[in-house]
This record gives sequence, C-alpha cells and structure tokens, in this order.
Amino acid sequence: MAEIGKDIVKAKALLEAGELVGLPTETVYGLAANAFNPEAVAKIFEAKNRPSFDPLIVHTDSIEKVKTFVKYIPLDLEVLLNQFSPGPITVLLPKEAIISDLVTSGLERVAVRIPNHPLSLALLKSLDFPLAAPSANPFGYISPTSAQHVENQLGERIQYILDGGECQVGLESTIIGFENDKLTVYRKGGLSIESIQEVVGRVNLKEHSSSNPAAPGMLKSHYAPKKKVIFKSDFVEDINLNKVGYLGFCETMPSIPEKNQFILSPKKDLNEAAQNLFKGLRFLDQLDIETVLIELVPEEGLGTAINDRLKRAAAK
Ligand code: TXA
Ligand code: MG
Repeated sequence: MAEIGKDIVKAKALLEAGELVGLPTETVYGLAANAFNPEAVAKIFEAKNRPSFDPLIVHTDSIEKVKTFVKYIPLDLEVLLNQFSPGPITVLLPKEAIISDLVTSGLERVAVRIPNHPLSLALLKSLDFPLAAPSANPFGYISPTSAQHVENQLGERIQYILDGGECQVGLESTIIGFENDKLTVYRKGGLSIESIQEVVGRVNLKEHSSSNPAAPGMLKSHYAPKKKVIFKSDFVEDINLNKVGYLGFCETMPSIPEKNQFILSPKKDLNEAAQNLFKGLRFLDQLDIETVLIELVPEEGLGTAINDRLKRAAAK
C-alpha cells in the first residue's frame, strides 16, 4: 500500500532520492520521477510494465525552465504554450542531452508539459529538476483520475501518492508538434482542436495505428477495460442483458439494468463527460458483467478526444 497525502515536502524528498511518486494533474494522475536521473526514470517503465519504446512526458512549472532542457521552442509552439499553459497541452521540442534517451525512447524530441494543478505546480517549483511522468496506470489500461485509482493499481509499487482530488479535465493532454513543417496533433486530448486552431490556424491530425511503435502514443488498442467492449450501434439484444453494462452520454438504456449503467453527463456537457469518462469505464469494469456497451458522444470540443478514447477502449 502507498501512503496517500498532501505533503509536498515528503514528495520532494522521495523524488530527490530517485523514487517514484503519484502526481495529481488536471488531466489524469501521473507516475513521476526525476527526469534528469535515468535510474529513477527506469523505475517508471518497470512499475507500469511499459515497453521502453513508448516515451515519457516531462513536466515542469514554467517556460523559462523548459528552455533549460530543450534546444529551442518553435514560434507557434511557444505561442501555444503562452496561451494554454499551465494546461492540458504537451508540445514536442528538440531535446538537450540532459534529457536521456530513456525518457524519449531515443527520439530527438522531448514531450513537455506544464500541468495546471496547484499542488503539482508547487512541487515542481520547489524542485531543481523536471518530472518525467506517464499516466499512473499499468500499460494499456484505463488512466487514473483520483489518488485511489492510482493506489488500486500501483499501490504495491510506490511509496507515496500526492492527493490532489479528482482530476478536473479527465482526459490526457493534447500532444502537438511539427511534422514536415506543419503543426500536427499526435494525440487528441484535454485541449480541443478548435481551441488550438483559433490561435494558430489549421493543424494536421495524425491517425493512430496498432502496428507502428515508431509513432508513439498512437497504439490503437489502449485505455482498455478487461471486459469486452462494443459500440451501442453494433449491439443485438439477443444476449443475457443482466450481463451487459452501459456507458452512455446523457440518457440511460431502458433494456439494461439501471445498476449496470453509467451516464457521462445527464446535462449533455462534454467537459463534464470528459471528467467522468475514466471513472465510468473503471466502474463498469468492476461490475459482474461480461460486456460493456458504449455510446459515442457528439464529435465536437472535447467530444473528439472522448470518442478517440472510446474507440481505443473497444479496439482489439
Ligand atoms: O495529460 C497527460 O499528458 C498525462 C499527465 C500525467 O501529464 N500524461 C500522459 O502520459 O498521458 P502517457 O505516458 O500516458 O502518454 C504520453 C504519450 C505517450 O503515448 C507517448 O507515446 C507520447 O506521449 N510521447 C511522449 N514523448 C513523446 C515524443 N518525444 N514524441 C512523440 N510522442 C511522445
Ligand atoms: Mg497513458
């Protein structure tokens, strides 16, 4: 069992000693280690069972600090950082040597983000190194949006989880960088594409694949519950409905037992739906059912990122 608390000094001491700490952010909880210490970073891959070809995001608390470990920040990415950080955006920047190949899986660019959470910002401010942190879930499983989620899955492997309450955004950060001189979104996330395009104009979208680990973060099957997941539109009601659960956007499904249903936002608010998404998937995954039925949400704002996660949860 890990200790859960709000003690920044304790978290700092553990991180300085090269240990892992569960870290709250506005998107999802992270599993953090000193990004300048490869031995500490290696512990992240081990604790998560994460393949070493999947690189980590580096977190810090200011753009000035970012500049100490990247070669430069392309203008449009600096504009986006200024506009949306701290917040749910991650930018890909050319790394300096102090960021080890372990962090970036050998890539030339490092993913950087300034999370918008008061506890984590205070912690990052007190440290003289940034924090490498993936989402604090076993590789391929649903991301955690509370300290308890982290404890449930990684509690045996870490000593301390900083408790920052429930995550306000609930979806991982949007990842953006340049590809062939075009701004390209590599992962849809907690900052909508519309918000980005309002500031920098049209951006490209990178589709994910199941087979190309050279395009990290884009594995098709991810965020996967252990139960069988199918779309509402593919559902035929010829199976035992008592063994079916439902994750819906705003309304329940009359044919399925009420206790097996989780509605993301009765008032049809996509931000609220995002906040509840991983909690809902976890809730359904622990029920005594065999199949989880999911409904896609409207494809606008955070809806595109929610649908991305739902499709990946359903992918085999
Ligand atoms: O909101 C978030 O981004 C959360 C919180 C904890 O900050 N973190 C998170 O980390 O979602 P993780 O490791 O679960 O997802 C990071 C994604 C991975 O899919 C990884 O492949 C991609 O970012 N990534 C990291 N570094 C990269 C790089 N240098 N180039 C391309 N993709 C990268
Ligand atoms: Mg993750």
